[in-house]
This record gives sequence, C-alpha cells and structure tokens, in this order.
Amino acid sequence: MSHDFDQLTQYAKSFTGLTEEYESLLKEVGPQIIPHLAGVTKNFYEQLSAIPETEPYLSGRIDSLRAMHTQWLEGLFTKDFDTNYTSGMYKVGDVHVKVHLPVEFMSGGMTLINGQLIPLIINSFSDDTDKCTKVLSAINAATGFSLLTMQQSYQEASIAEELEKFLKISGMSRALFSNLAEAYKD
Ligand code: HEM
Repeated sequence: MSHDFDQLTQYAKSFTGLTEEYESLLKEVGPQIIPHLAGVTKNFYEQLSAIPETEPYLSGRIDSLRAMHTQWLEGLFTKDFDTNYTSGMYKVGDVHVKVHLPVEFMSGGMTLINGQLIPLIINSFSDDTDKCTKVLSAINAATGFSLLTMQQSYQEASIAEELEKFLKISGMSRALFSNLAEAYKD
C-alpha cells in the first residue's frame, strides 16, 4: 500500500499543535534534557513490567527495547518532525502491529512516558514558568504526533484484516475485489 506521509504529517501537526516554534524549542533544550532520558526509559520499563499483560512482549528483550526506546526519546529533541519522521514512526507502529502488541499499549505507553517527562521538565525549568510551560506543551505535541503517526499502522492493519475476513466469508477473489474497488472508487 502506498502512503501519503506528507499529508499524514500535516494532519498529525494540526491535531497535536506541533509548530515550528515548538520544534526549535525542543532542539534548544535537548542538550539539557538528553542526559536524563536513559533514566526516563528505565522508569518507563519498570512501570511497564508492573503490568502483567506486558510480560509476553518484554520478556528476554528488555535491554534491546531500552536501547531502542532511549534512542527514540532522544530523537524528540534532535529530529525534524517531517515526512521522514512520520514514515519512520509509521514503521515503528508496524513493528508493534507485527508482534501483535495490543493497540492500547500505544496510548498507555505514551501516557506513562509523558508522566515521566513532566516532572523532569518541571525540575529543569522551575525558575522560568513561561519556558517550562512552553517546553511541556512542545513535548505534549511531539509525543502526541508520534502516537498518532504510529497508530496509523494499527488502523490500516485492522482494515486489511476486515478485508481478509470478507474475502474468506464471501469467497470473492482478491482480483475481483480489486477490480470492483477500482471501478467504484469515486
Ligand atoms: C508508546 C510508546 C512506544 C514507543 C515510542 C516505542 C518505540 C519502539 C521502537 C523505536 C521500536 C523499534 C522498532 C524497529 O525495530 O524499528 C520498538 C519495538 C518494539 N516495542 Fe515499542 N515503543 C512503545 C511502546 C511499547 C510498549 C508499551 C511495548 C510493550 C509493552 C513495546 C514493545 C515493543 C516490542 C516487543 C518491539 C519489537 C522489538 C523486537 O523487534 O525485538 N513498545 N518500540
């Protein structure tokens, strides 16, 4: 399936309020925040490990997951949120779809991550309320953007699954379905 990642980027920005000003601010505060992100990841996996349902997905791979996760977190403070970032997050979402990670792990996981980042930011910028507020808003926008683009994979996987079921139940061939879909596409 081909994807319009440019369109998805604009769509995700409109929903999360991720502006150029926020992207620049995240890069500006990156050097101050990045040294603390391994700790954020460590706490995140401790919280996940306390949820019994996560066990099958974490067992035997915590160290590699921690490393991938810290790298992703650092990217929030170094990368441009452009088409490349969106297609990368779509692929990360797809990796989770392929390991059958339940969809609510995505929003639940991101909520836990924000819960770790909020006190870190408040401690780091406690002497400047205005900056602290802006950094928190920028992080909220960036993690929301990442979540929305990752979850797009789940939506498409669910549509593909429904189609598989329909073809199986109806006995219709994929070729016939594709021809009909093409003929009725508008
Ligand atoms: C919600 C925020 C999350 C982010 C940003 C995130 C990020 C990532 C990234 C960057 C990868 C590597 C993808 C690749 O191979 O290219 C990955 C893989 C994976 N993640 Fe997540 N993840 C999140 C939540 C979770 C949660 C909550 C779990 C499980 C409880 C989880 C389990 C996994 C597993 C099992 C893999 C595949 C690892 C492998 O290939 O061995 N992730 N994740």
